[in-house]
Amino acid sequence: MALRIDILTLFPEMFHDFLNTSIIKRALDEKKVEVILHNFRDYSLDKNKKVDDTPYGGGPGMVLMCQPIFDCVDAIRTPRSKVILLTPDGEVYQQQKAYELSREEHLIFLCGHYEGFDERIRSLCDLELSIGDYVLTGGELPAMVLADSIIRLVDGVIVEESHIQDSFHDHLLDYPNYTKPQDFRGMKVPDVLLSGNHQKIDAYRKEMMYNRTKERRPDLLK
Ligand code: ADE
Repeated sequence: MALRIDILTLFPEMFHDFLNTSIIKRALDEKKVEVILHNFRDYSLDKNKKVDDTPYGGGPGMVLMCQPIFDCVDAIRTPRSKVILLTPDGEVYQQQKAYELSREEHLIFLCGHYEGFDERIRSLCDLELSIGDYVLTGGELPAMVLADSIIRLVDGVIVEESHIQDSFHDHLLDYPNYTKPQDFRGMKVPDVLLSGNHQKIDAYRKEMMYNRTKERRPDLLK
């Protein structure tokens, strides 16, 4: 069964180009994955379709209210859904999590915006994820980062060999790649890659993966 991703956002238009370009577009066209956008403002019971209000206790900015988000999630979740909140105070997202989530049937991403969201919204979620230690204006870009990294791992979206060779597969960075010409402005392709000896090429690539990881990201080797 194809993976289904529902995205709850106040700005569904931000996803238009993302969903209509390159590998993601092809995965959707080929029904390998289904992405459904929901503007949770549509679920607001307020006569002005309000979705946020001032924080109890005072302070700057507006806080997303429970009602529209709870009603929207209630309308789409099933016992097999995994509800994920995008927030800078979530667990930091890594490739291993992308592999895990690519095996799920149904993901629901909640994108916050403005100052924050009512704390009780966390009770709806199975998982809270951050894409890194910086603060964005909303969860839309993080939702695209998650969707992109997950969709490319879904069976048949790209040839499996390409993701077996990814950076971070086996906790190592990728090896260097070259294409034509053999000599560009004096920078030459390593001889071993032109040798046709596949055992030697594999050994060279493994060594480069290890050396590069040791030099750039020694933390990954621990
Ligand atoms: N929302 C705002 N900043 C974020 C981040 N770094 N990760 C996930 N969601 C966010």
